[in-house]
Amino acid sequence: MGFRVSTFHLFLLFTLLSSPVQVFSEERSSLLEFSLRFSTPFSNALANLQNEINYTFEGVGLLRRAMTHSSYSGENNKALSILGESVIETSLALQSLRIDVDISAKDLNLVISEASKVEGSCNTEGTRLGLQNIVRVAPKTNATAPSVVCGAYRALFGAIAIDAASSDKAGEVYRKIHSGVRSAVTL
Ligand SMILES: *[C@@H]1O[C@H](CO)[C@@H](O)[C@H](O)[C@H]1NC(C)=O
Ligand SMILES: *[C@@H]1O[C@H](CO)[C@@H](O)[C@H](O)[C@H]1NC(C)=O
Repeated sequence: MGFRVSTFHLFLLFTLLSSPVQVFSEERSSLLEFSLRFSTPFSNALANLQNEINYTFEGVGLLRRAMTHSSYSGENNKALSILGESVIETSLALQSLRIDVDISAKDLNLVISEASKVEGSCNTEGTRLGLQNIVRVAPKTNATAPSVVCGAYRALFGAIAIDAASSDKAGEVYRKIHSGVRSAVTL
């Protein structure tokens, strides 16, 4: 009798374990555990940022790097920010000359320097995106300092240019953010 009960129990156990539904839900819960364990505040912030700028990275490692200040790691955003600055300047020059091909060199330089200088819209727009709360810095570095925010903001477009293998794509994302801010200010 005892033998029969335990055989029955074993049979039940076997049926439960081998039922596809059971296996599926076990897989699902371990996947959930896996993703919970690996979603950090930083990776959540990177996901939110991609939604905000309406660009999804193929390689999110590039965005991680763009959001890493040189005080935090040797793998930082310095070089990406040089590319990003040139994306911003090209995008503005292109836009300005398309609107008015007779724009003076002086006026064009003004437009470019207003947008790209550290104390200009580079800092304003980076702050509006909340980069000061995302960028990783060393404990003693002030993440709200314009040079830090602006460096991360420029690096964002450098990272998009590499990710999309297209500086035009990066310029397009920049134009949307830049004109969005301008119309918000006008309103
Ligand atoms: C987001 O990007 C897609 C594809 O590039 C575009 O169709 C859509 O209008 C964009 N949305 C916003 C809010 O910019
Ligand atoms: C950090 O930088 C911002 C902007 O320059 C400044 O207003 C703030 O006082 C600084 N904070 C600290 C703790 O130095």
